[in-house]
Amino acid sequence: MSAPDPRRAFSPDDAADLLRVAHAAVQLAYAPYSKVRVGAALVGADGQVYTGCNVENASYGLTICAERSAVCRAVAAGERKFKSIAIATDRPQALMPCGACRQVLAEFGLELTVIAQGQQSGIVQVTLAELLPRAFSPGDLR
Ligand code: THU
Repeated sequence: MSAPDPRRAFSPDDAADLLRVAHAAVQLAYAPYSKVRVGAALVGADGQVYTGCNVENASYGLTICAERSAVCRAVAAGERKFKSIAIATDRPQALMPCGACRQVLAEFGLELTVIAQGQQSGIVQVTLAELLPRAFSPGDLR
């Protein structure tokens, strides 16, 4: 089988599958302060899925978002190329990645497909390039 094209947009079926994993990760969120629970499922170049959830802290500013938790997990496992990330929440509406998470995801490429869904929302699908136009990126340090 040839390598999957990381720029390929996910078909609705793929997105729904990945969102199921992200929705499962929502259950693991540690969010006693905001009570906003978020789960992420990040797909590596070889199709491996890395999950994450938000992890809050009594010192509020130390909170780690679901997306960054998934990135850290993936990178610690040796993965640095990503195809897509699904983000799910227990809120009715889909939540898009915060600015900090957009920047952290951009470190590994702007051609990432971002898929998001809330409990009572449709599926939102965009690219990271759309979410972070004119990004500061590793190329700017060369
Ligand atoms: N949160 C995420 O996990 N991802 C985002 O992109 C937005 C916000 C979490 C952080 C915090 O625990 C809660 O949502 C409320 O901000």
